[in-house]
Amino acid sequence: MLSSLYKKQTAQKPTLLHDTYFNDLRRKEYSRLCNQQHTYLDFTGGNLYAQSQLDEHQSLLRNNVLGNPHSGNPSSLLATQLVQEARDKVLTFFNASEDYHCVFTQNASGALKIVGECYPHSKDSHLLMIADNHNSVHGMREYCSNQGGSYSYAPLNYEDLTISDSDLEESLHQHSDKRRKLFTYPAQSNVSGVKHDLEWINKAQENGWDVCLDAAAYVPSSPLDLRKYQPEFVAVSFYKIFGYPTGLGCLLIKKCAFHKLEKKWFAGGTVQYASVSNPFYFLADDYERFENGTINYLDIPAVTIGLNYINKIGMQRINERITSMTKYLYQALRDIQYLDGSKFIHLFGPSCREIQAAP
Ligand SMILES: Cc1ncc(COP(=O)(O)O)c(C=O)c1O
Repeated sequence: MLSSLYKKQTAQKPTLLHDTYFNDLRRKEYSRLCNQQHTYLDFTGGNLYAQSQLDEHQSLLRNNVLGNPHSGNPSSLLATQLVQEARDKVLTFFNASEDYHCVFTQNASGALKIVGECYPHSKDSHLLMIADNHNSVHGMREYCSNQGGSYSYAPLNYEDLTISDSDLEESLHQHSDKRRKLFTYPAQSNVSGVKHDLEWINKAQENGWDVCLDAAAYVPSSPLDLRKYQPEFVAVSFYKIFGYPTGLGCLLIKKCAFHKLEKKWFAGGTVQYASVSNPFYFLADDYERFENGTINYLDIPAVTIGLNYINKIGMQRINERITSMTKYLYQALRDIQYLDGSKFIHLFGPSCREIQAAP
């Protein structure tokens, strides 16, 4: 079968942007790829860490004494300071310093779980999703239906894997009788790489919806400006952006929507006051409310290091590089044909590859 295939010669070879820059970076920071003869195409499921990130983090751990932040001794205070630096860095990275709280979580799924668990679903609420949400979003419907809420999916076009604006608008106009409405969608699909329109955030909010943006697959290769678009909740996994460490993500909560999440229990680190002699407790009124127990204070400083590293390269440059590589791959796959000229590969997704990033 393979012998009857050939690669059509295309008139124009696509340009891979920033070749010199990324070839140098690969030699300097990722020599293990060449040493072990790897081809690593994933830029969403799990990114690769640079050598310098490891060196900087290990040097920080080797040269300092860090203690559990829930205390006032010097080692504890240093950990508190480094965690605060990381939190500030995350908020700055997404241009969210003024308007959002940053809650550290284990990953994007952990962030989505907080929203699923604490959003006040009831008979009087509705959850709207789309079919190419990640399973960690689909799972939120269990919290919803367990509390009597209803849920539905906006229709997906299965050929080009997009959602038409008019279909979505129709879905957003429904359920106007509900008191609480949550719309949750991925800025970029983990299934197809399709980037969905961030304008949907405004459209949904105009129709009375709270919006939970799953940004996990989007932010590794696209800038997210939370001054421009302000979903109530945003879920992120850091290893997808800069590879190291795993086991850390965040939930960004718009400050004015903070009270909409109702936490139904307390744990160490989440309360201002709790007592065994009476049944009352007062939850912390900022990000601490959702960070149960001891945070990952040894790894969190590596988030600052990772974001500094990405800032040095520049998200715009990363985005241009990946977009050009995606187009190249698309064209190369499309040009594989049978000898009779018929297509060998059927590619799903939008015809305009500008809006489709690397899967
Ligand atoms: C769009 C999207 N949402 C959520 C997740 C879940 O991320 P994690 O496994 O880091 O929790 C992923 C992971 O691939 C993803 O691509």
